[in-house]
Formats: sequence, structure tokens, C-alpha cells
Amino acid sequence: NPLLATRDLGRTLHCHGTLASTNELAFRLAHEGAEHGEVVVAEQQTAGKGRRGRVWVSPPGLNLYFSAILRPELPPQHAPELTLVAAVALAETLREAGAEAAIKWPNDVQIDGRKVAGILTEMSAEPERVHFVVLGIGVNLNAQREHFPEELRAQATSLSLELGRPVPRASFAAALWLRLEEWLARHQEVGFGPVRRRWKELSCTLGQDVLVRTARLEFRGMAEDVDESGALLVRTPSGSIERVLAGDVEQVRP
Ligand code: BTN
Repeated sequence: NPLLATRDLGRTLHCHGTLASTNELAFRLAHEGAEHGEVVVAEQQTAGKGRRGRVWVSPPGLNLYFSAILRPELPPQHAPELTLVAAVALAETLREAGAEAAIKWPNDVQIDGRKVAGILTEMSAEPERVHFVVLGIGVNLNAQREHFPEELRAQATSLSLELGRPVPRASFAAALWLRLEEWLARHQEVGFGPVRRRWKELSCTLGQDVLVRTARLEFRGMAEDVDESGALLVRTPSGSIERVLAGDVEQVRP
């Protein structure tokens, strides 16, 4: 890809037609010693994985599905920050392409309230050390309404639908990988602070009344902030602050 200006990210590319999931293959390659920055791309996925056991609809040819192998020097408890790093890079790249993208906590990237991209990070680690992180990203670039299953049509969109023109995949990927590499380097060098600040600027969740669903409970409140580890801080009607590390939020009317 002559457009690619990165140092490491995507310099070694594993391109496939059909894969079950790029995350799955990247995980295996990383296990076998693949290096930092190697990327797996597929034209289509037959079992694209979403967060919380969901599937990521991955029709052929239209969209971008990839997984990057990262070997960050980070204690494992900081690895979840990489998902927010990726969300920032994604939202910036979509904005640069002309769309009004925003991040819904923790890492859904939306345009006009509809999801355009998703991030799934998986890691292999010991208590003290991260072996590797697989950062999987799916971006709906050229999907049209009819490519989404009926039940997703109200909630999903593509960059092409929003811009009203086709989006070339190679140049979008090159722009995204460059931003991603820059944000990953900044995160590695100075930590989560600048990522968190930028995430907050790009977020559409803060300041909203939300319904929070975690594995264990469901409650309503006002999304006030993200803390220094990326957790969402929600003020409940009783005035207390709940710290949500993992879950889903849905905007509700006050
Ligand atoms: C989400 O639920 O929002 C996360 C979706 C992540 C989808 C991407 S597509 C490329 C990579 N391979 C997978 O199987 N999943 C991720």
C-alpha cells in the first residue's frame, strides 16, 4: 500500500479473503511469535466477533475488518486503555473524512447516533506482563442499508451512507493506521492523560442521562466523567457516583 506512512503498524500485512475472525487468526499468529504491528485483514468474516459475545456482521468486499498485534510495554491492568486509544484514532479518522463521528462509552464509534465502527481487544498476559494484545476493529465503510440485517438498520450506518459517496478502503486504512500508531506512541510515552482528554472531547456519552447495563446490574444516571483508568462515572438519582468498568450504556430521556 503506497499510501501507508506508518513505521510499524500494517508494514507486515496478512491479507485473507474469508476468515472466521481476524482476531482469532491474529491471536494465533501472535502466539506463534508475530511481531508488534503485524496486521491481519479479511475481505469477509464468517464469525466476526463483537463485544459481549455478539457477532459482527461482516459481508464481503465493502468494509474494513482488521486486527493489529500489539506488544505494548504496559502492566496488564493498563491494557484496557488501548481500546480508548483506538476509539480516539477511529473518531479522528472519520472526522477527517468528513463525518461527525463521536464515541459512545466505552468504544462504539457512531455517526448521528448510529454505530459505524466497533473495537474488540483481546490479550494474553501474566499478572506482571502483557504478552500481546490483539486490537480488532471493524469499520462499516461502504455497506448500504440492505447489507445490514433488518434488526440493525435503525442502529447501524456506514461512512458511505453518511457521506453519500463510496469510500476507498486502502486510503481509509492507511489514514487510520497512521493515527493509531501516533496515539499508541503517545500513550506509551506519556500515559493515558492525553488520550483521556481527547476521548472526552470526542465523546457523546458525557453529560447524558444513561441506562447502564453491566453483567450484574442495571441502573439509570447521569454520565459525568471517565476516570484515569477509562471507567465511566455515573451519578445516580440518589446522588452517589457509580464507577462502571465494563458494560453498555444507552441514552435515555431524563
Ligand atoms: C463491537 O462489538 O463493537 C466490537 C466489534 C469488533 C469487530 C471487529 S471486525 C475485525 C475484528 N475481528 C473480529 O472478529 N472482531 C473485530
